[in-house]
Amino acid sequence: MGRDVIVACDFSSKEEVFKFLDKFEGKKPFVKIGMELFYAEGPEIVREIKKRGHKIFLDLKLHDIPNTVKKSMSVLSNLDVDITNLHAGGTKRMMEAALEGLTRADGTRPLLIAVTQLTSTDQESMENDLLIKEPIDKVVMHYAKNAADAGLDGVVCSPLEAGKVHETCGEKFLTITPGVRFADGDIGDQKRVMTPAEAKKIGSDYIVVGRPITAAADPVAAYERCLAEFVG
Ligand code: C5P
Repeated sequence: MGRDVIVACDFSSKEEVFKFLDKFEGKKPFVKIGMELFYAEGPEIVREIKKRGHKIFLDLKLHDIPNTVKKSMSVLSNLDVDITNLHAGGTKRMMEAALEGLTRADGTRPLLIAVTQLTSTDQESMENDLLIKEPIDKVVMHYAKNAADAGLDGVVCSPLEAGKVHETCGEKFLTITPGVRFADGDIGDQKRVMTPAEAKKIGSDYIVVGRPITAAADPVAAYERCLAEFVG
């Protein structure tokens, strides 16, 4: 899979997501299904969107003891998604167990991506709540390195960190970057943003774009603008 735009379908019902996807007619954007939609509609929503011909990033961010994550990943691999993820904070052992669980009997598996530190965690909350005293960018790179050592395929990170992640973990280690906005668009609640063109320049492999597409007056035009800027 090459560079692509992943549309964050942050809806809470099947009706809303299908109403949105129907606008794309023949086009099949790569879709991110998060906790909101998955918990509302269950695994069937994944099968239905897949059946319509979309690639799927199932963003459930697993974090538990290695055995539980392994077994859960094994169940998720039956859903035939293209990318799924977990928290790197669950340790290298948990990530290795996840990879084992995700790998099907024929050796194939979805790509497995780690979340390092959530962008909602800042230096202050990391130090005070988690008692992690190192600088946050050092922690993010350390977690990315752990994910690479465990055999994972990449990390979710800010587009601003994508270049450094590639330097640390290799060019082939994937960077999936949310926090993307058009130069003339609303930032909303995202703090550190980049345009699709800037994310391309810095070497992101996939951009995850939600509201700039889902809340646009013309979502298909917004999606195509993302593709034109990011994929070219
Ligand atoms: O609407 P917006 O473009 O901000 O959506 C970004 C998507 O990426 C949302 O689904 C959000 O949960 C997700 N995300 C994020 N920041 C992270 C990890 C995931 O914005 N660090």
